[in-house]
Formats: sequence, structure tokens, C-alpha cells
Amino acid sequence: MSDFAKQLNRALQAMYDNASACKDGILSPVAIDRGLNLLAKLGYPENLLEKLPPDSLEIAFPCANPLSRITSLAPKTILDLGCGAALDAFFCAHSLPCLQRITGLDGSSKLLAKGVELLRHFPSEADKISLFQADLNHLGDSLFGQLKTSDLILMNGSFNLIYDKQKFFAELPSLLSKNGTLLIYDFLLTEELPPGFSDEIDNWLWNIGGALSEVELEKLITTAGFKVVEINEIERIDPVARCEIVMVHQIKNFTAPSSIR
Ligand SMILES: C[S@@+](CC[C@H](N)C(=O)[O-])C[C@H]1O[C@@H](n2cnc3c(N)ncnc32)[C@H](O)[C@@H]1O
Repeated sequence: MSDFAKQLNRALQAMYDNASACKDGILSPVAIDRGLNLLAKLGYPENLLEKLPPDSLEIAFPCANPLSRITSLAPKTILDLGCGAALDAFFCAHSLPCLQRITGLDGSSKLLAKGVELLRHFPSEADKISLFQADLNHLGDSLFGQLKTSDLILMNGSFNLIYDKQKFFAELPSLLSKNGTLLIYDFLLTEELPPGFSDEIDNWLWNIGGALSEVELEKLITTAGFKVVEINEIERIDPVARCEIVMVHQIKNFTAPSSIR
């Protein structure tokens, strides 16, 4: 792992650990929507938001609301990579009658602890949810070897934080069921970033420094045996667009070339 990747990991963990402790939310000094306003604006159903303790709303950092897409896919099992304080996990467990299990992984132990606290209020949903601390940059680690495959892998705001996306895609298929879906909500580049922009850790923290263009993404995933099913632009804020990206792994018994393993 390069020094940059290690520093990025430390900075992300510190930022999200701090976010879990910040009473008014990490974004309170910034004039952008957060908490209930953000979630309502993204279209999370108000009847679900009303059920949640207000503190938990301040530690939600979704890029978009995945619930209609996930409902239409009707997965029985979900792996939420970068689940934060488990709000999407709760919403899925509450809203999908066919759901059997959802596993959430995140690098921030403090956000996960908030997730555990949240789920104490909802025992029937909590029965279907397991949360673990893990580093998504090392999907080859032993924890991941113990995970069962899932019908759907969700990444709501965590994909652009992965440092080595080529390695990530090479390791991902072992976690996905046959015909399973990878569902990403994150920014895609609509313009080139200024030279040197992605060399600054700070520029990665809010999901821009690690953003790819659609062409870069297609090239990367094709090498790893994935295929884009749909890319939907939700909002354009040049030089990026907030997008929903739906992918499947298309090659049976695919083994990534050794250069990307
Ligand atoms: C934008 S937040 C989204 C959180 C959550 N999906 C939500 O909707 O609230 C990104 C999440 O990715 C997690 N994360 C970032 N890099 C990670 C890594 N290398 N391994 C595990 N989790 C990571 C952060 O701790 C954070 O919870």
C-alpha cells in the first residue's frame, strides 16, 4: 500500500470518526443541506425519516437515495460497502419484505457504533443486519473470505474513496452472487480535473479527487469482467455529475488478469 493510500485511509477514518461525535453534524459550518433536509431532498420517504432519532440523521452521508432502485431489484441479500451509520441498511431491512440479510462494512468504528445504537431501537430490522469494521481497499483480507456472496452490493458515496479501484474490481466478484448487481451512487467527472488535484488528500475526502470519467470507469470495469447496465445522471455540478451506476458481473468463472490482482 502506498504512503498516499495509507494517509488517505487515516484521513478518511479520522474525518468520519469525528463526524460521528459532532453533535450538530460535521457539515454544520457549511451552508449546504444536511441531516433531515438532505435526506428529504434526496427523496428518502418522510414516514421512514420520522421513525429515526434526530441525531442519526446528522450522520448520514448518502450520495443519493437508493431505495426505489433496490426495491425494483428485490435482492434477498445485500452487502453495503461503506455503510456508515447503517441508515440505508435500516431503510432496506424495513422496506424490503423479501430481504433475508444485509451486511454493512465501514472503516469508521465510531460511525458503526452509532449504527449499532440506532438499530437497538429497531430489533426486527436489526435481526437482519450485521455490521463490521473493514477496509474496502483490502477485499482480499480474511474477513471478506468469511462473507457469503450477496445478490446486491451497494456503495452509496464510498466508491470514489477507494484508492486502487483496479485492485478493488479484481477482488469484488468473489463477494457477488451469480447475476448479482453492483449499485454505485457517486460522482463521475464531466470535465478533466486540474493537474495535481488528485495528489491532494483533502480533495479526495469529499469524493471528487478519486472520481473517474464515464470512459475511465467503463475501461476499468470491462477489464475486471463487469458490464454497465445503466448510468443515470441525477444532478450535474460541473466538473462532476452525481450518478446512479448499475453494473453486473458478466463473465462466468472470470479470473482477473494477474496484472490487476
Ligand atoms: C460518503 S460516506 C457514505 C456513508 C453511508 N453510505 C451513508 O449513506 O451515510 C462514505 C463512507 O465510506 C467509508 N469509507 C471510506 N473509505 C473507506 C475504506 N477504505 N474502507 C471502509 N470504509 C470506508 C467512510 O467511513 C464513510 O462511512
